[in-house]
Amino acid sequence: MLFEVGQTTDIPEGEARRFTADRIDIAIANLGDGVFLAVDDICSHAESSLSEGEVDTEDETIECPRHGSTFDLRTGKPRTLPATLPVLTFPVKVEGDTLLIELEDR
Ligand code: FES
Repeated sequence: MLFEVGQTTDIPEGEARRFTADRIDIAIANLGDGVFLAVDDICSHAESSLSEGEVDTEDETIECPRHGSTFDLRTGKPRTLPATLPVLTFPVKVEGDTLLIELEDR
């Protein structure tokens, strides 16, 4: 199911913002060139908002602002400790300037 969450212009290039789809908080990162990637906003290590972390557009990672684990934005897997568990990833669709997130039916 597709959920409209915001506009492409809501996220400056090289940054991430938090959006909500079906009561799930999702961090969407703008990697530039029209590439937007989405992961669960809550870090798998502890309660922290990944959308407040730094995005690396070359490595395609986002860094948890609390303890510094970096997560692969395409797979959700942590690349550095202390996090060891992945976060969920979500397909992003861009229609015009609108960002949509695809969630599996629950
Ligand atoms: S809360 Fe994210 S690495 Fe600890």
